[in-house]
Amino acid sequence: MQEITASQSVAYLSPEDEEMERQREYIRSIRDLTDRPQTYHVVTYGCQMNAHDSEKIAGMLEEMGLTYSPERDSADFVIFNTCCVRDNAERRALGNVTWLKEVRKTNPKLMIGVCGCMIQEPGMAEKIIRQYGFIDLAFGTAVLHRFPELFWSALHSDHVVLEVGGQDSVVEGMPVQRLRQDFAYVSIMQGCNNFCTYCIVPYVRGRERSRNMRDIVREVEKLRDGGVQEIMLLGQNVNSYSGDGTFPELLRQLDQTGIPRIRFMTSHPKDLSSELIRVMGESQHVLPQFHLPVQAGSNEILRRMNRRYTRESYLEKVHLLREAVPGIGLTTDIMISFPGETEEQFLDTLNLVDEVGYDSAFTFIYSPRTGTPAEKMPDQVPPEVSKERIQRLIDLQTKRQMEVMRRFVGSPEEVLVEGISRRNLQEVSGRGRHGVSVTLPGTEEDIGKIVKVLVTDVKQNTLTATRL
Ligand code: SAH
Ligand code: SF4
Ligand code: F3S
Repeated sequence: MQEITASQSVAYLSPEDEEMERQREYIRSIRDLTDRPQTYHVVTYGCQMNAHDSEKIAGMLEEMGLTYSPERDSADFVIFNTCCVRDNAERRALGNVTWLKEVRKTNPKLMIGVCGCMIQEPGMAEKIIRQYGFIDLAFGTAVLHRFPELFWSALHSDHVVLEVGGQDSVVEGMPVQRLRQDFAYVSIMQGCNNFCTYCIVPYVRGRERSRNMRDIVREVEKLRDGGVQEIMLLGQNVNSYSGDGTFPELLRQLDQTGIPRIRFMTSHPKDLSSELIRVMGESQHVLPQFHLPVQAGSNEILRRMNRRYTRESYLEKVHLLREAVPGIGLTTDIMISFPGETEEQFLDTLNLVDEVGYDSAFTFIYSPRTGTPAEKMPDQVPPEVSKERIQRLIDLQTKRQMEVMRRFVGSPEEVLVEGISRRNLQEVSGRGRHGVSVTLPGTEEDIGKIVKVLVTDVKQNTLTATRL
């Protein structure tokens, strides 16, 4: 795989640009077509960036006059927004695309699209033409803003319309169909420059590009005026945001907009500055929560992962965060079975997890990705060892989580209610300021509102609470 060396100077396009007007023309033309698809369904894999991209695709489709179909198999247009960060994510996406080929036998008008990170993988475009010729449309993340034009071409072509695109431009400002009225993703940057040795993201999402602060602030003010209660700032490494200011400066400005709740993800420990820790402590609306992926607890493994921090410097930052924001909610990502990981090195990860005490952790077994340096490293860990290690990690995390979450019992919390609880129709659930999920008595009326509660107990990975 070749390292991508797209220039850093490329900018985000704004809604006023000519290119955007061109796309809006396509939207209008598609809306006027009488024999176009009438309904759509978007299937999303992967991280929040993809979730937000799917909201943009849905937004453009709605403007074209299509309506959302909750049933995938009866929609006229189905699009898969794919992820390739681990092998299983990729296989699941391709399996479902193949299944739709069967559905098409009973619904011959069905149009199938595939987009997202997988399309940007080297060799994938050729594979799609060879093995998945029944797809109508495939495009990469960098050409998302040209979706109307590509959709138009697919409507007028017998062949696969395929556009991988470079990795040099990013557009914000196309219509967005948000899933929730009270919560919004706000993309502040795209791409990643870190090249952790196991990770494919820098190859498929390209180099870091940051949006202008002014555009971000404007977007957040608009969301605030529209009644949004919480925003999540998105980027693969938000700490290295470098628009016309730094990430802490951006947070200070957003804090002043008065939007009630601000979260962000993901942070890279090496770029977590003391200035950011200060802003976390001083701001009113930046929530007391931090997602800080550690990946491993062994310095040797961290070095070979190219993470560029040590166990000690990570623990020091955790300590400083806790000092600045007492009770802060801490979450992480952990990867086990990196090539060459010994039992002892795995134990370093276990005792780090024990020491920190995370409110929750995403745990992964290392999955080799074609073209990344780690794929060629010796001593890949056998699956039976990985299975046993991941179970030990999950058991420890489950136990620690229950223990550390007890610090909330007896304290007040504010919960942004997301929906009716799955277990009990007289209860609602949502997230507290610290990022932990909370269940409380309530009704549909509470959805989208911030409710004050008193935490009474810990149940597995949620807190239970009474209303204040
Ligand atoms: N930019 C974010 C993470 C993006 S990917 C960060 O640096 O934290 C989300 C998580 O997927 C990573 O934190 C890592 O734990 C996991 N991951 C990435 N590549 C992987 C691979 N090849 N195998 C298994 N897990 C992987
Ligand atoms: Fe991948 Fe590392 Fe970049 Fe995160 S920081 S996206 S893990 S290369
Ligand atoms: Fe997956 Fe792409 Fe996100 S590879 S994790 S969807 S950036």
